Amino acid sequence: MGDLKPLLAVLGGEARAVPPIWLMRQAGRYLPEYQELRAKAGSFLDTCYNPQTAARITLQPIERFGFDAAILFSDILVVPDALGQKVWFETGHGPRLIPLESDQDIEALAENFDLGKLSPVFETIDRVKGELPKSVTFIGFCGAPWTVASYMIAGRGTPDQAPARLFAYRRPQAFARLIDILVEASIAYLIRQIDAGVEVLQLFDSWAGVLPAHEFERWVAEPLKKIIDAVKAARPGVPIIAFPRGGATHLPRLAGTLGADALGLDTAIDPAWAVKEIPAGPALQGNLDPLALLAGGAALDREIDAILRCFAGRPHIFNLGHGVLPETPLEHVSQLIERIRGTGN
Ligand code: CP3
Repeated sequence: MGDLKPLLAVLGGEARAVPPIWLMRQAGRYLPEYQELRAKAGSFLDTCYNPQTAARITLQPIERFGFDAAILFSDILVVPDALGQKVWFETGHGPRLIPLESDQDIEALAENFDLGKLSPVFETIDRVKGELPKSVTFIGFCGAPWTVASYMIAGRGTPDQAPARLFAYRRPQAFARLIDILVEASIAYLIRQIDAGVEVLQLFDSWAGVLPAHEFERWVAEPLKKIIDAVKAARPGVPIIAFPRGGATHLPRLAGTLGADALGLDTAIDPAWAVKEIPAGPALQGNLDPLALLAGGAALDREIDAILRCFAGRPHIFNLGHGVLPETPLEHVSQLIERIRGTGN
């Protein structure tokens, strides 16, 4: 076990005195070298589909900070794109899609699904895998069906994904069909990522927290479990991290039912509660407040120490509770890594 990469060791159930660390959105706008490549590459989606650039961006945070994992540079909304829904990103406003309306709009997705459209993503993976340092683990990902569907229905990000929630109440059969199409597309996409060279998968359910319990079970827990079961049946041995942001009181149950190798904890989860209430099994990942990282100084040190103290003795992957904010100073990220690894003074 001693030869395993740190992240893989923890996903295999080992508790480490110094937890492996990576950050959601570690490749992105807070890095000047990212801004530079983005400015040259055209639109955000063009950047995602340019294997040479996407591979460079994936490696940037590894080269600058020495994280324990690299996460594929892409986006969760490449799946709607591969399903034939028009997707684009407006600078300063985030994603835009032509919203799904009719049953035919939804059925057309299944007919139009073309994984070949994502071949630049698989080429990016192929390029990155040969360039990673030996101890660094390569993470692939996709959006979970509920979160991806919520953008496909609204056509944009909204404060609470109300359009998809309303759609699911009013037309549950049509919504269930959309979720099923996303489950199947995600399984195929994740298997191809594994075959191209990723070693771990993360499923981002960023909007899991807006649903009441019954809807959570139907649109978050069941689809995640279907994806995890199918990917594990097809490619046993590849660990999967589930991140149901806002999963709250559902987490203790999900630890036993999802079959994930780790659960991602968002910022609002009290680590002391998590350690007490989430049964042993999956590793726990998280959950520093991205604003504490932005703030830096003594507040950052205090928050880091509290998290390390709570998760000591449990298999733990250090991460944020959500993504790095674009305004985050680079020195604060160095401070974080030094504090965790004990390499500061
Ligand atoms: O984590 C990483 O470093 C890997 C790359 C990655 C991106 N998006 C790059 C990105 C990952 C894993 C994602 C996931 C993603 N994308 C999620 C789930 C995680 C989360 O943050 O909740 C969601 C909901 C999306 C959809 C999305 N993409 C939104 C809402 C936005 C706009 C908001 C924003 O931060 O700009 C994006 C754009 C996006 N995805 C950027 C990056 C680096 C910024 C694009 C730019 O350069 O302008």
